[in-house]
Amino acid sequence: MLSVEENELLCRVGPGTEMGAFMRQYWVPALVSTELAEPDCPPVRVKLLGEELIAFRDTSGQVGLIAANCQHRGASLFFGRNEERGLRCVYHGWKYDVTGACVDMPNEPPESNFKTKIRAMAYACRERGGVVWAYMGPRREPPPLPDFEANMLPEGQWRVTATMRECNYLQALEGDIDTSHSPFLHSGTDRVEDTRPGTFQYYRVQNRSPRFNVLDTDFGTMYGAHIGAEADSEYWRIACYLFPFYTIIPQGLLGHQVHIRAWVPMDDTHMMFIYMDKRQEREVRSRGAGVGDESADPRRTQLAPRTTDWYGRFRLRPNLSNDYFVDREKQQRKLSFSGIEGVAIQDKAATESQGLISDRTKEHLVSSDAMIIRTRQRLIQAARAFHEKGLVPPGVDDPDVYRVRGGGVILPKDADWLKSTEELRRGFVEHPELDPAIVGLDRG
Ligand code: FES
Ligand SMILES: [Fe+2]
Repeated sequence: MLSVEENELLCRVGPGTEMGAFMRQYWVPALVSTELAEPDCPPVRVKLLGEELIAFRDTSGQVGLIAANCQHRGASLFFGRNEERGLRCVYHGWKYDVTGACVDMPNEPPESNFKTKIRAMAYACRERGGVVWAYMGPRREPPPLPDFEANMLPEGQWRVTATMRECNYLQALEGDIDTSHSPFLHSGTDRVEDTRPGTFQYYRVQNRSPRFNVLDTDFGTMYGAHIGAEADSEYWRIACYLFPFYTIIPQGLLGHQVHIRAWVPMDDTHMMFIYMDKRQEREVRSRGAGVGDESADPRRTQLAPRTTDWYGRFRLRPNLSNDYFVDREKQQRKLSFSGIEGVAIQDKAATESQGLISDRTKEHLVSSDAMIIRTRQRLIQAARAFHEKGLVPPGVDDPDVYRVRGGGVILPKDADWLKSTEELRRGFVEHPELDPAIVGLDRG
């Protein structure tokens, strides 16, 4: 349980808030590259950390992310003409380049140099692995991008999907570091006779109350949750929280699974979930397969048609207003625990149903919430250390702390889980000796 002040500190991310300032020290995934499909394509409204911004790709392919309203008299640059290396306001023709410099002011006499005095607020952008990253912080020279393996793979090997949720970023993120919901929300009606003996799924169906080991790390927090496997072994699930809003879930096989999950605050009550992973054809994928992938079949992706408003990007068709298409009959007949179709939609429904901003003063936490408790404390402490002592937030200047992996592994009963998984938790290492067949059907 948290105090009102602590909950506010964690959840408020707009300009002028403590958490907002803390997050602005980091690079932030702002868009999926395909949202700006080609040079001079239509601009996109982007809400990020409570700010209204316009993203555009200029003639040379560079991405700009600038204040939504024109510096002249405030018309929206969403309606701007994206042409000849800049975005031109359609009201009186002022034009801005990706750095925010006003490069043309055609309604002033030619001898005027007033345009050189005008600059729109613009954030530095970089593109890597299908994601447009923005730096909204105070440094003149931004820090390095974090070394996320899934975002640094060779062309053709990575995949990026996105979905928006209508709730605060933190409760959505907390769903990822709460491994104990999975055997209920996602697999509550799975039966042991439908699983293959010796797989992770087989063990999970038989034991739904894992024991947690939680610890602080240089990138954030990590847990190893374990349940019994065979008489002499245990099935461990290892997952991470990484500053300031990333997770690695314990799905799949440790040493094989490469992904990073970003829970990016758009404002206090909306967030964009950006999922970067490595395409692994051999592996069983069930966790929201295809959800949020704009390039895939719309029936599978569940995406609503894209609109141009602030909340029109990557919306899912099942949402609170239609009760996520819950099927009570399926639920009653034990064909689905929640009656809601699909892992990603189940997660969305559970976390959005907590309210726009989850009230953490009213919770009753138990031992399986240990990771959530630790992570909140770590985030509160780091944000306070930044504000009170000026300490650089963890990871900002250390991109290599992000070179980590999570996943499942079978260990001997008396093994030291940390020591025995050290090599497997390291990113950028191939493990051809591992066989992903042990995973079975993994719903996260
Ligand atoms: S408001 Fe944009 S040029 Fe006048
Ligand atoms: Fe989940």
